[in-house]
Amino acid sequence: MKTGDKYILLEKMSPLQKEALEDPEKFWGEQAKCLDWEKTWSKVLDWDYPNAEWFVGGKLNACYNCVDRHIKGNRRNKAAIIWEGEDGSCEVLTYYELYRQVNMFANVLQNLGVEKGDVVAIYMPMMTEAVVAMLACARIGAIHNTVFSGFSSEALSERINNSKAKVLVSTNTLYRRGKKIDLKGIVDKSALNCNSLNNVIYVPRGDEDIKLSFGRDYLWDELMAGARSRVEPEIMDSNDPLFILYTSGTTGSPKGVVHATGGYLTYATKTMDWTWGIEDTDVFWCTADIGWITGHSYVVYGPLSLGSTIVIYEGAIDYPEPDRLWKIIEKHGVTILYTAPTAIRMLMKYGEKWVKNHDLSTLRLLGTVGEPINPRAWKWYYSVVGDKNCPICDCYWQTETGGHVIYPPNGIQTVPLKPGSASFAGVGIEADIVDKDGKSVPPNTKGNLIIKKPWPGMLKGLWNDPERYKASYWNKIPGVFATSDYATKDDDGYIWILGRADEVLNVAGHRIGTAELEHELVSNPMVAESAVIGKPDEVKGEVPVAFVTLNPEYVGRPKEELKKELIQYIRDTMGPIAIPSIIFFVSKMPKTRSGKIMRRILKKLVVGEEIGDISTLEDTTSVDEIKQQLKGSK
Ligand code: WTA
Repeated sequence: MKTGDKYILLEKMSPLQKEALEDPEKFWGEQAKCLDWEKTWSKVLDWDYPNAEWFVGGKLNACYNCVDRHIKGNRRNKAAIIWEGEDGSCEVLTYYELYRQVNMFANVLQNLGVEKGDVVAIYMPMMTEAVVAMLACARIGAIHNTVFSGFSSEALSERINNSKAKVLVSTNTLYRRGKKIDLKGIVDKSALNCNSLNNVIYVPRGDEDIKLSFGRDYLWDELMAGARSRVEPEIMDSNDPLFILYTSGTTGSPKGVVHATGGYLTYATKTMDWTWGIEDTDVFWCTADIGWITGHSYVVYGPLSLGSTIVIYEGAIDYPEPDRLWKIIEKHGVTILYTAPTAIRMLMKYGEKWVKNHDLSTLRLLGTVGEPINPRAWKWYYSVVGDKNCPICDCYWQTETGGHVIYPPNGIQTVPLKPGSASFAGVGIEADIVDKDGKSVPPNTKGNLIIKKPWPGMLKGLWNDPERYKASYWNKIPGVFATSDYATKDDDGYIWILGRADEVLNVAGHRIGTAELEHELVSNPMVAESAVIGKPDEVKGEVPVAFVTLNPEYVGRPKEELKKELIQYIRDTMGPIAIPSIIFFVSKMPKTRSGKIMRRILKKLVVGEEIGDISTLEDTTSVDEIKQQLKGSK
């Protein structure tokens, strides 16, 4: 069956998908009408490989679409955000209240001199003010750059400096697992190294005194008290940047992924609807943090553009008891839950009884994202959580794709699900699995997942780095967008994601660049060389394992002490999510004769696979030493 692949896909394709692939420009032109535009575009797509401009000449404002248009209609008093804190306190913001706060904060930013095109960094946990800050930026045409609140001060400085952010919005305290984390201390340390930063705004929490640096720091509440309650939304060009979001790549420095206003918002809105078939009565809970892309597209922009009610929760989902997540669903009547396999595996470990004590009958759809979901976790999610009533939407996508690209489109058609497969390419996405030359591989063969044609959610570029943009996405396999994920397609045309094809680890759904972690390790004076690999982990999917050689003056020091110091160092420089689960101190690395560290061998040793031929190694005794250490660590 020569055209077999195509045959299967067409059979499964919805009429919408057929329409999208037959005439993409006509199709996307129709879809973009889901937004309110100030001025209609003159051209749907200007494709100057590898740069795409969507809805050329179109004018709109993202904040207007997420807020203003709902208060004009009958959603004025509808809950936009249901917030819950770890201590159980709750707050509900109606669309009207969201509108008021966003307007006022937009004015606060203006009063600090923030103008269209300026960058504002946001370093906050899941508070309503974080959403308000993002939308306020969008309202005045400022570009937001959110930084995950679990990142360290150095990671924060790097992102502020690279984007030249003028203002930082933060808070003094973050609450997690019953403890208080001094976010202000981290910000203070970071701000010292940021020349571009003029002001820091803190949302005050708790009753401690917050020491403000005169002329630089302000309190949110005080600025809001003096703010105007109405700010006209800035009319933005469709291709003006909406935000920058840094993500890990294969080199030492993170990449500043830029998304533009019109294309991104159209794609986030439509995929939100195509995936979940959103109804006005839905209560949508995406557990992602706003520091990640999932928090941008499916906590903020997608749902709010559709006028949905979202739940946001600040805290650990298993605190104070393992049933916290189920409790929240029951309490707020959540209808769609969207979370990560790592969370499902963790909750599964606690056992079924924690789920069964709660009435979860409001749920109608369950989603997963971030990493491949293993069939055991899928089945548990489906039968125990969803009571076999809720389809599982396994959504595959990336920071760069702006929205789901491989997913079961529950909102428009039903496809039979296979546990562990994200199913088919989404509406308007022409995906394929190819070899390194770009040739399609036969079914059941591992290859590179690529996207052949531009789509509106695709990144606009990398912040101030067009060369890296080209090299990272368009030159790996010429002519197409490389996702850097391996995948395979089965006989029925279902796509199975197999994991990253590059040096990026996926730890509990978070991207950690091995090069970034190695770079940080060797920047510690104790370390001479380092190599990082990923080791499979039952709950987190994968964890980093580091091998280091020490500089001579540190060789004699007790290993436990060195380990502690290095862990603290990584916590300070990158943040807790990047801490290696094991650190091996070795006297030499397995290297080729040309001096390249053989990470492939390290990985095989750690996972206990046959290492095969090691004759290319310069010195095979390095392998024996590592084997010895591994024996000792078991
Ligand atoms: C992985 C998160 C398998 C993948 C939205 C991708 C997945 C990386 C899935 C992007 C899924 C995401 N199944 N793997 N459903 N979703 N991934 O940029 O390796 O933080 O390249 O975006 O996560 O991570 P990012």
